Amino acid sequence: DFVMKKVRIFAPATVANVSCGFDILGFPLSNVGDEMVIRKREEKGVRITKIEGAEGLPLEAEKNVSGVVALKMLEKLGIDQGVEIEIYKGIKAGSGIGSSAASSAGVAYGINQLFAEPFSTQQLVEFAMEGERLASGVAHADNVAPAISGGFTLVRSYHPLDVIAIPSPDDLYCTVIHPQIEVRTADSRNILKEKVPLKDAVQQWGNVAGLVAGLIKNDYDLIGRSLEDVIIEPIRSILIPGFDKVKKLSVEAGALGCGISGSGPSIFALSRGKETATRIKEAMNQAYKELGIDFELHLSKICASGVRTLPENI
Ligand code: HSE
Repeated sequence: DFVMKKVRIFAPATVANVSCGFDILGFPLSNVGDEMVIRKREEKGVRITKIEGAEGLPLEAEKNVSGVVALKMLEKLGIDQGVEIEIYKGIKAGSGIGSSAASSAGVAYGINQLFAEPFSTQQLVEFAMEGERLASGVAHADNVAPAISGGFTLVRSYHPLDVIAIPSPDDLYCTVIHPQIEVRTADSRNILKEKVPLKDAVQQWGNVAGLVAGLIKNDYDLIGRSLEDVIIEPIRSILIPGFDKVKKLSVEAGALGCGISGSGPSIFALSRGKETATRIKEAMNQAYKELGIDFELHLSKICASGVRTLPENI
């Protein structure tokens, strides 16, 4: 029998929240992410042997998001074997495009492949959420669920976990600017208010429903009208240099809407068609280049696939 001893995977970056959907909405990008190699070992336990492309991430399994996820999975499997993990980060920590989620989702998917798929997709999301708990203090699923499932994803409920795939228009593009400063998710969660005024809640859940309806109906105008966040963005945007300018120029360049990606500092814009997405990329570049802060730009479709295996030898 063929026994898989090693798996190489790609784990995508993700945009979470998507303006109005704090902790419940997200989608993966198609061309940005991490790679990982996961191998079986005869000895029990988890060894992280290599982390490339990022500084300051711990090799110690108990302190590393992918290590924690792997330990939980092996414990659940109740086996005497262990795993060895190599991580090639394409996403910097504290970027707002799901760095910890890519590591968590990648290892969850990879270990499931190595051990002949004992877990359901929902279980993989639950394991990956433990990585998010370590990274941010809260086991949010709005990055790991789309990173695992692919496509626009709704976390309808956390208790019990209920993850729903939302179809989205084929011509929907995302442009992201990633200022090279670190905003820790834990910090940008701590500054949020515990309570929401009822009138803000009404506006926000109207937008969430509108966004989901717009995605399903291919109604780009409705998507645009719904990309509004009256609760989180006013507080968090203060942490992001140039946020208002990026948003203004992106909308002028044709964006349906523009907001903070996850907990920031990345900023995303959605648009119809690649041409507009490219114009937005130029507008973001324009808005940021005077600020004296390095940045990266990404342009992507809403990626239909989540974590996936890669051919062995690339
Ligand atoms: N929903 C999470 C937050 C996403 O906004 O804190 C973090 O990427």
